[in-house]
Amino acid sequence: MPAQRRLILITGASGAIGGALARAYAQPGVELILNGRNQQLLAAVAEGCQALGAEVTLAPHDLSHAAALLPWLDSLQGARLPDLVILAAGINISTGENGSGEDIDASARLMALNLQVPMRIAQALAPRMQARGSGQLVFISSLAAWHGLPVTPSYCASKAGIKAYAEALRGGLAPHGVGVTLVMPGYVESAMAHDMPGPKPWLWSAERAARIIRRGIAGNRARISFPLPLAFGCWCLAVLPAGLAQHLVRWFGYGART
Ligand SMILES: NC(=O)c1ccc[n+]([C@@H]2O[C@H](COP(=O)([O-])OP(=O)(O)OC[C@H]3O[C@@H](n4cnc5c(N)ncnc54)[C@H](OP(=O)(O)O)[C@@H]3O)[C@@H](O)[C@H]2O)c1
Repeated sequence: MPAQRRLILITGASGAIGGALARAYAQPGVELILNGRNQQLLAAVAEGCQALGAEVTLAPHDLSHAAALLPWLDSLQGARLPDLVILAAGINISTGENGSGEDIDASARLMALNLQVPMRIAQALAPRMQARGSGQLVFISSLAAWHGLPVTPSYCASKAGIKAYAEALRGGLAPHGVGVTLVMPGYVESAMAHDMPGPKPWLWSAERAARIIRRGIAGNRARISFPLPLAFGCWCLAVLPAGLAQHLVRWFGYGART
């Protein structure tokens, strides 16, 4: 009997981390469903994955459009229900060069894509995985979820929200054979990281991040966070007295722009 193919869905696959993850999983016996809006970038990632032996299906949907998202999720049933779902699509905004504040519509779009979309995908797929008794959902949060940064309040809020959601979901799904992993990266080279204001210590390549994420997913780790010094520092901000944490955030160069 032929070995069973592993079906892996990755959103944000046209981006740095999603693309590197697609390549990290690409091998014979694996089918990748790759999502992203930029069809040219997505096709380039697909080509690389096919060269490594994976089958690839492209899903170039705009996840912010429920009219595209919902029918696509409906189609992921039965033999098309993924074994592993990695939710890496995301955007960032900031308070602007002169600290004028975030645009309210842009903030709503960010909260929808970074928080509501992964929740929606999980709410559609988790019951099917639960009924099957297997599967794994992976949410890409950020170390910025530990303590809000003055220049990116909406982004930090969305990542703190998805952190709490993933943690909650893990406890509920574990008895049904479904894994949930939360990923909290530090700075990783990407278009998004490039546009992010503030210092970027311990900047990792997307390939390095993908290796660590893949290893943690294989172990069904509850939380994968890296790099260690930054992860420890950000965790400290969450447990220190709030006033002191605010001082440290400013002192490290992440204060509000004026
Ligand atoms: N890079 C970092 O330093 C860092 C740190 C912590 C956490 N993260 C998180 O890691 C994840 C990946 O980020 P990245 O660094 O790889 O950024 P990136 O290279 O900018 O990739 C972002 C991805 O999100 C997709 N996306 C954006 N809007 C979308 C939409 N409406 N519908 C579908 N896809 C959409 C983009 O695809 P299209 O443009 O093709 O649609 C792209 O594939 C994000 O969730 C980010 O918050 C990144």
